[in-house]
Amino acid sequence: TRPLIINPSILSADFGHFAEETQAIDAGGADWLHLDVMDGMFVPNISFGPGVIEAVRKVSKSPIDTHLMIEAPDRYLETYAKAGSKRISVHVETCPHLNRTLQAIRGLGLKAGIAINPSTSEEAIRYSLDAADQVLVMTVNPGFGGQAFLPLTLEKIRRIRALIGDRPIDIGVDGGVTVETAELAAKAGANVFVAGSSAFKGGPAHYAANIAALKAAV
Ligand code: DX5
Ligand code: ZN
Repeated sequence: TRPLIINPSILSADFGHFAEETQAIDAGGADWLHLDVMDGMFVPNISFGPGVIEAVRKVSKSPIDTHLMIEAPDRYLETYAKAGSKRISVHVETCPHLNRTLQAIRGLGLKAGIAINPSTSEEAIRYSLDAADQVLVMTVNPGFGGQAFLPLTLEKIRRIRALIGDRPIDIGVDGGVTVETAELAAKAGANVFVAGSSAFKGGPAHYAANIAALKAAV
């Protein structure tokens, strides 16, 4: 079994105070920090780029997990590696040569993740698993924080767990992760829990309790 990881998403932080927010969520018990890069093309929203990631990394004690929701991500792998990412996840929907892209990420010395949209079958990643360190199952349609977890993804998590077998590959869930849905996802086989709204709700005074509640649920 894989270690359980709570991975707060900075997308739900106060964008006017990235440094303070990063330090507060770290102090609250984050294991990793999740940074959502959106290009306004692959997803409807635009978030932030490598400059913000570098700034967060400078004050973060947790490793940086970059989730690229951008078209043709190969153009930017080196940039996001240099910004300080420890893992980069790319969407299977954006990568016609997924295995080559994952190998390029590993070639930069990083862990490689495959993100997969709710509407994409697990069959799309079957032959790429040996090149991956994580599968990031999108449990909402990506683009915005604060959406509701889609229960239809639970079956896909179970199927991906079965496809992985005993290989050392993490399964992350991203979107609508709360105390209730994290427990369901954990039972289905997930071990990495990306949490935006549920980690950052209430402001810095609540981060430790928010993260403790998620850890207790999984
Ligand atoms: C969604 C992003 C998520 C987002 C999750 O497109 O990939 O990482 O920040 O936010 P919550 O937990 O609020 O659904
Ligand atoms: Zn994400």
